[in-house]
Amino acid sequence: MLGYVAAALSLTAVLVLRTDLWSFLAEVPGLGAVLPETCGVQAGRLLTRDELSAYHGGPGSPGLYLAVLGQVFDVHEGSKHYGPGGSYSFFTARDASRAYVTGDFTDGGLVDDVSELSPSQMLHLNNWLSFYQKTYAAVGKLVGHFYDEDGNPTKALEDALAVIAVGLKLKEERHEENKQFPPCNSEFNSGVSRVWCSKNSGGIQRNWVGVPRKLHIVGYDGYRCVCVRTTGPPSENPDSEEHNDRGDLDNPSLKEYKDCNPLFDWCLLKE
Ligand code: HEM
Repeated sequence: MLGYVAAALSLTAVLVLRTDLWSFLAEVPGLGAVLPETCGVQAGRLLTRDELSAYHGGPGSPGLYLAVLGQVFDVHEGSKHYGPGGSYSFFTARDASRAYVTGDFTDGGLVDDVSELSPSQMLHLNNWLSFYQKTYAAVGKLVGHFYDEDGNPTKALEDALAVIAVGLKLKEERHEENKQFPPCNSEFNSGVSRVWCSKNSGGIQRNWVGVPRKLHIVGYDGYRCVCVRTTGPPSENPDSEEHNDRGDLDNPSLKEYKDCNPLFDWCLLKE
């Protein structure tokens, strides 16, 4: 928890020091959905909260709109979901960005304050935004929380972008980490958990199987099961000729599972 907050804060610090914040963000792969310059929301209408609140699709309503991270979409083509009586009608006529991630569909949860969301939750929200951009017509921007009355991004949007950028960075790091330490297979049967390694566990194709170990998750007080190479040089020093031929077994971030043979490629979990 503290880890990602610290990461977001340090990235935000870097961002606010940049004189050209938006061009810096434009270089971050995966942020295209949110950037006003690249997603086309610079065109279109500016709506106030009051104006948007009329677009609920009911009698006398001018249409069916909703907003995500301040971007307004015309969702009339999805009226079976969003129209009156639809399962997701609570999303319409407002910006309920936070609820897309929390699943809190009460009035208190259907809000645009995303300041407490983690980087991975913000990535999830970013995916919803991309979905709306691909599926529905963009209308413009909602004035208030994420855009000011001139349609310029607010500090709240910059902060949201910074957390999404941290999420993308963590995702990339996790991808790299998965290549070195692919996730284990796991199953839970009749009260017993089993983890094991195979040449494609975690969806990472490789020519080695490895043995299960606990890898500390950065920023969290927990572990995940990973498969660890048992022969060859350590990943940190792949070209080394002087090594113990133990692969990554001696990596200090790893812990053995209790009561498991450390060289078996499987383990029954009793913890
Ligand atoms: C945080 C939780 C959830 C959110 C924010 C969410 C949001 C949405 C939204 C916005 C749509 C409409 C997408 C569109 O415009 O086409 C949708 C569709 C759908 N959702 Fe969810 N959903 C959630 C959880 C669930 C769960 C738990 C289920 C199933 C148990 C579910 C089943 C469906 C189905 C089946 C559709 C498509 C309905 C259709 O095409 O007729 N959703 N969801």
